[in-house]
Amino acid sequence: TDPALIRNFCIIAHIDHGKSTLADRMLQITGVVDDRSMRAQYLDRMDIERERGITIKSQAVRLPWDGHVLNMIDTPGHVDFTYEVSRSLQACEGAILLVDAAQGIEAQTLANLYLAMSADLHIIPVLNKIDLPAAQPEKFAEELAGLIGCDPSDVLKVSGKTGEGVRELLDHVVSTVPAPVGDADAPARALIFDSVYDTYRGVVTYVRVVDGHLGKRERILMMSTNATHETLEIGVISPEPKPADLGLGVGEVGYLITGVKDVRQSRVGDTVTAAAKPAGEMLAGYEHPKPMVFSGLYPIDGDEYPELREALDKLQLNDAALIYEPETSAALGFGFRVGFLGLLHMEIVRERLEREFGLSLISTAPNVVYRVVMEDGKELDVTNPSEFPSGGKIAQVFEPVTKSTILAPSEFIGAIMEICQGRRGQLLGMDYLSEDRVEIRYTLPLGEIIFDFFDQLKSRTRGYASLDYEPAGEQEADLVKVDILLQGEAVDAFSAIVHKDKAYTYGVDMAKKLRELIPRQQFEVPIQAAIGARVIARENIRAIRKDVLAKCYGGDISRKRKLLEKQKEGKKRMKMVGRVEVPQEAFVAALATD
Ligand code: GTP
Repeated sequence: TDPALIRNFCIIAHIDHGKSTLADRMLQITGVVDDRSMRAQYLDRMDIERERGITIKSQAVRLPWDGHVLNMIDTPGHVDFTYEVSRSLQACEGAILLVDAAQGIEAQTLANLYLAMSADLHIIPVLNKIDLPAAQPEKFAEELAGLIGCDPSDVLKVSGKTGEGVRELLDHVVSTVPAPVGDADAPARALIFDSVYDTYRGVVTYVRVVDGHLGKRERILMMSTNATHETLEIGVISPEPKPADLGLGVGEVGYLITGVKDVRQSRVGDTVTAAAKPAGEMLAGYEHPKPMVFSGLYPIDGDEYPELREALDKLQLNDAALIYEPETSAALGFGFRVGFLGLLHMEIVRERLEREFGLSLISTAPNVVYRVVMEDGKELDVTNPSEFPSGGKIAQVFEPVTKSTILAPSEFIGAIMEICQGRRGQLLGMDYLSEDRVEIRYTLPLGEIIFDFFDQLKSRTRGYASLDYEPAGEQEADLVKVDILLQGEAVDAFSAIVHKDKAYTYGVDMAKKLRELIPRQQFEVPIQAAIGARVIARENIRAIRKDVLAKCYGGDISRKRKLLEKQKEGKKRMKMVGRVEVPQEAFVAALATD
């Protein structure tokens, strides 16, 4: 295709403002999906996306429109998946900034707009859901125009639901988004913006060609790894993969398949070039997303450890932000310490591992990364509470902080400040976006916002507040490790790093929970919470004499044997902590995050 006829654009928006629905209408209106095969959220291909109604992965699709080729990339809206958005932006020249006409600008509207602006994209402001009775298109057109510095009449108005205004929007994309520019005669350079593992076809790599041309049956070179492969298939997605025998030229977006099964061979952010005539320089890749939250993942059945490793390998290909390394826990056995971008990301990864790979997992309480400076000047990054040094040799502990932006109606300012203050927040500033809508900025410890901050914020503002955050360095904090001891022995899976003011509450809650969860033993079991050698809370599990045979009145020997068998089986699912038998379920329940 002549690059002059190509338009590459994405849709960016706050969560739930209607990106996927608008994408559905575009698929229908351009005739790529006929009415019969249409289903809601067509491009959300994972079950988990459809059930939760959220987009996790970006999707690229080619739409023919008015003699042109439009490549549309649908992106996720949740803050944890911002890195997916910034990747997609690099494959585009324009962005539709979609805003719900009943809600107005929200935190991720701003965050995504800034990303698109820094990627130098042409921005098309659009109000969506104008069919809603509660829509206030005039009011929010003004707000949106004020934000990007255009005239309110330049703001397009559409309904992804009814299709109103969508044709005009597509025309607008053709007439305003710049065509891609690239050197057709230069050595090929294509940016990998996504890749997925397909059981039948191996690795499928999604690319945007910047210069030159990539063809079928051509040897290609991955520039960062120097690996070469032959392209077995090359094509475009419209809306299913369609082989393109002429290959892909400047500005085109599509996929390639090399038959490679090794998931590490096709790194997102890498540049693909032709092995016969390689390019001199790589394209600017992506900043690798840095995991912010860590948790231990263990198979409930220890035999599933190799499967868990393989599943993580495969998932990582599709999820560049996922990192992991093996770890062992005295209580939980062999597993992995896994890094995530946030709690939603963590939930999704766990759910995908369980659903797509059939694993049953236990995850330990999530924590952020702490930097600990010892008195002798040594430093260590702690991603697992059990690595937190015990004893009095710690000089300083640093925790990651965020710059958090909260948007809400002004009547909730008081409630928002109270929540933030209660979590050691420092007010940075406040601005009115309009008469009754305010933007509040805080520095907040990451460890404080990743837990139930968002839920609290939503419930205290009747769902009206929205939150966005970005990493903003670190600060020194008064943090301690709380250990949980059973009969004097620390259980690594239950240790946590918490602020000094919250240590007592954590210790008491955990000790109480465990008293309920651990069955009585033949002897008394003290449960203690301690900071170093200092015990801050204590509970007791009283002793019992559990004699299963007592019920049998001597007589029936086969019944006796059965009971003994049963007891033995029950024991297998127990983990021994010192002399104490702890049922697997107790770990699962105590570590459940709710
Ligand atoms: P994420 O992918 O999770 O970021 O969400 P999204 O922005 O893709 O939103 P989605 O398209 O899933 O729409 C969110 C909700 O808004 C759904 O319940 C849609 O049915 C509804 N919705 C989307 N567009 C319209 C519209 O034009 N009018 C009305 N009335 N509802 C809409």
